[in-house]
Amino acid sequence: MEKIELIINRKNYAEHAVEKATIEDLQEGEALMEVERFSFTSNNITYAIVGDQIGYWNFFKAEEGKGKLPGWGFAKIIASKSDTVNVGERFYGYYPMGSHLVVQPAKVNEFGFMDGVEHRRPLPPIYNYYTNTKKDAVYTQETEDIQCLLRPLFTTSFLIDDLFADNDFFGSDQIILTSASSKTGLALAHLLKKHKTNSGASFEIIGLTSSGNKDFVNASGYYDSVITYDQYASISQGKASSIVDFSGNHKLQYDLQVHLGASLKYNCLVGVVHWEDLRGEEKLPQKGTFFFAPTYAQKRQKDWGREGFQQKLKDAWNGFIPETSDWMTIETQEGAEKLSDIYSKMLSGDFDPKIGYIIKPTV
Ligand SMILES: NC(=O)c1ccc[n+]([C@@H]2O[C@H](COP(=O)([O-])OP(=O)(O)OC[C@H]3O[C@@H](n4cnc5c(N)ncnc54)[C@H](OP(=O)(O)O)[C@@H]3O)[C@@H](O)[C@H]2O)c1
Repeated sequence: MEKIELIINRKNYAEHAVEKATIEDLQEGEALMEVERFSFTSNNITYAIVGDQIGYWNFFKAEEGKGKLPGWGFAKIIASKSDTVNVGERFYGYYPMGSHLVVQPAKVNEFGFMDGVEHRRPLPPIYNYYTNTKKDAVYTQETEDIQCLLRPLFTTSFLIDDLFADNDFFGSDQIILTSASSKTGLALAHLLKKHKTNSGASFEIIGLTSSGNKDFVNASGYYDSVITYDQYASISQGKASSIVDFSGNHKLQYDLQVHLGASLKYNCLVGVVHWEDLRGEEKLPQKGTFFFAPTYAQKRQKDWGREGFQQKLKDAWNGFIPETSDWMTIETQEGAEKLSDIYSKMLSGDFDPKIGYIIKPTV
């Protein structure tokens, strides 16, 4: 039996291929999953950019110098030599961008299982867990594509919003989001706006974006004002400020830090979508604080308990999802060639932020 998989050169991301390979026979305790669909956003490109630092290349083994990019999606068990999972069961989780994954189900219960394969054990558990669709608090069949696209991103936004609320928004009069057109950025702006409405807080939510995406970001209605990168100097200098940086753009960080000076109270570093501009000559006045969703999620799961966490997330999710059709159009692409095309588009940033890409990786 054959599978397809996206294989990337770890030293030159543009060099990639969707390759065919033979699926090896299952060993005792293993199960074979057929990946039905997964999403593709800049977040997946980030897995490559920080693959060596954070260990994203270690989830799915590839030949020396090559990497398999992970994606969030749904898969079903199509063969099993494990007593604990059954053919036909479907799971939401983290899959290699391709058509199949062999897992070693461990810690199995009605809610899901961990892939117990040796090389994944040191990695954050949130990425190794497969959630059974039958017992999943946020699962509905009609929203499968939206779950693939937004569940990991919205969860991140939910956690950043919580961090800010828990710290009295760091005393900010203005919260500046870079790469404001990103789905994670839009979801965070939605949550911050909700907080403002519900609590009467008065901070301004400012979106910074590229000129081509300004109208799109404005139309979302989530930001109080939207400014293009070249206009950053129009941001008020005297107001207590926070940055949530999805861009990772060194020059922009430098410009904003110098412009805001002592008014910058909190600098939250989340993403690196401007991955070709991560370095620069100027020494940054301050480092900022890196935000890593899995670590913060683990803290909140401890604080609130697993069910408490799921309930809060579900409530916030239900308040967001109905609005997403106003600004996001889902486009489904099928097969190896399309997977390769979308990868190139996402890598170059040459895509319409309105589109949410779903891939069906048929062999
Ligand atoms: N730290 C964490 O735990 C965590 C968790 C989740 C997500 N994230 C990060 O948050 C970021 C946003 O992810 P997303 O999936 O929400 O993004 P997305 O929706 O795919 O964002 C698209 C936007 O990113 C910018 N962009 C993308 N590729 C670019 C390129 N090659 N060159 C220049 N600009 C580019 C553009 O925005 P503009 O024109 O507005 O700049 C584009 O509209 C990613 O870096 C992701 O990894 C971090």
